[in-house]
Amino acid sequence: MATVAASSQRLETARALFSGPVRLSEPYPGSPPLWIETDSDTLAGDMGAVTRWMADNYEAIEAALLSFGAIVWRGFPVHDTDHFISMMERFKPYAKGYAGGTSNRKAIKGPAMEATRTPPHVYIQLHQEMSYMPDNPCALAFYCKQAPESGGETVICDMRGLLEEIPETTRRKFEDYGARYVRNLRCADLDDWRADSELRHATWQYWFDSESREEVSAQLDERGTHHRWKEDGSLTFWNSEPAVTRHPATGDLLYFNQLNSQIQNAWTIGKERADLFDRLYGDHTDRPYAVAFDNGDPVTEEDYLAVRELFEARKIAFMWQAGDVMLLDNKLTAHGRHPFSGERDVQVMLFD
Ligand SMILES: [Fe+2]
Repeated sequence: MATVAASSQRLETARALFSGPVRLSEPYPGSPPLWIETDSDTLAGDMGAVTRWMADNYEAIEAALLSFGAIVWRGFPVHDTDHFISMMERFKPYAKGYAGGTSNRKAIKGPAMEATRTPPHVYIQLHQEMSYMPDNPCALAFYCKQAPESGGETVICDMRGLLEEIPETTRRKFEDYGARYVRNLRCADLDDWRADSELRHATWQYWFDSESREEVSAQLDERGTHHRWKEDGSLTFWNSEPAVTRHPATGDLLYFNQLNSQIQNAWTIGKERADLFDRLYGDHTDRPYAVAFDNGDPVTEEDYLAVRELFEARKIAFMWQAGDVMLLDNKLTAHGRHPFSGERDVQVMLFD
C-alpha cells in the first residue's frame, strides 16, 4: 500500500488540480477515497452550480480517481435520482448495460439502478463490478438517498499491491489459470422446488427482464458468453476470463475476478445453507452459480482464505449519510456491502 508520505503528496497534487470552494482530505491515509466537501452555500444548495463545478473539474476528477481509486462527495445537495444523474452527466454510461449481471437489481431511471436487492442480512463480499464478464465498466458511482438505521456500510478495498501479497502458490493459479464462471437460471414457467424463495435461484425472465428466448440469446451473444437452453426451459451460460488484469491507465497488474465472491459453499453462504444446497441440488441439478479456475481445478479453502484475509485486512467500511456520492475506479478499488437493518436506498450508475 502507498505510504502516508506518498499519500499526502497525492493529496497536495489533487489540491493543485481542483478549483472552487471545496475542501479535499484523505480520511484513510494511503487508502481510497479522496474526500470532497464544500463550505460554499452555492455548492451546498444549488445542483446547477454542482453540475457546473463537476464539468469545470472533470479533468481533476479523472486524475484523482486514478490516484486515489475512489472519490466521495459529502455535503452537496443531491436529494434525488435526477440530481445524481445530473451530477454524473459528464461520465459516459456503460454502453453494454447490466444484462447478464449477477446482482439482483432493477433500473430506476435512465442510467441509474438500484444498488442491489440482495437481502439485508447478507454480507456482499468485496468484488469488482462484472469482473466475471468479458466486458465490464471502467468506473461506477453510488448515491445514498437514504442511509439505513444501522450497518449497510459500503466496504471498499484498494486493489493496488493486493495481488503481490497473495501467497505464491495461490497467486500463480489466478495468474496462470484464469477463471471459469457458470450460471444457471431456471424458467419461470416451470413450477419446481427451485422456485423456493429461500434458494434465491433466479429465473432468466426476471434476470433479463424479457420473455423472449431469442432476445436473451442475442444479449448473451453480444456479451460474448456461451449459452445453452435446456429441456426444462432453464438457461445455462458460461465464460472463461483472465483472473488478473492490467489497468489501462496506470499499468498496475491487478487481481480482477469473482472466484471468491461467487463460490457458494460453507465458507461463503454458511454451513446451514450450504448443506441445504447439497441436499437439494446434489450432483444432479445445476446450481445457480458454479465457478472454478479455468483449468477445471476448484478454488480450495486455502486459496479462498488467502484472498479473503487480504480483502478483510485492507477494507474500509464507509458509513453512508443521505446525499453522499462515491465514485470508484472499478479495477483499482473493490466494493462490497455490510449487512444492515432498516430502509436503505443506495443507487448506482456504471460508466465506460
Ligand atoms: Fe457490485
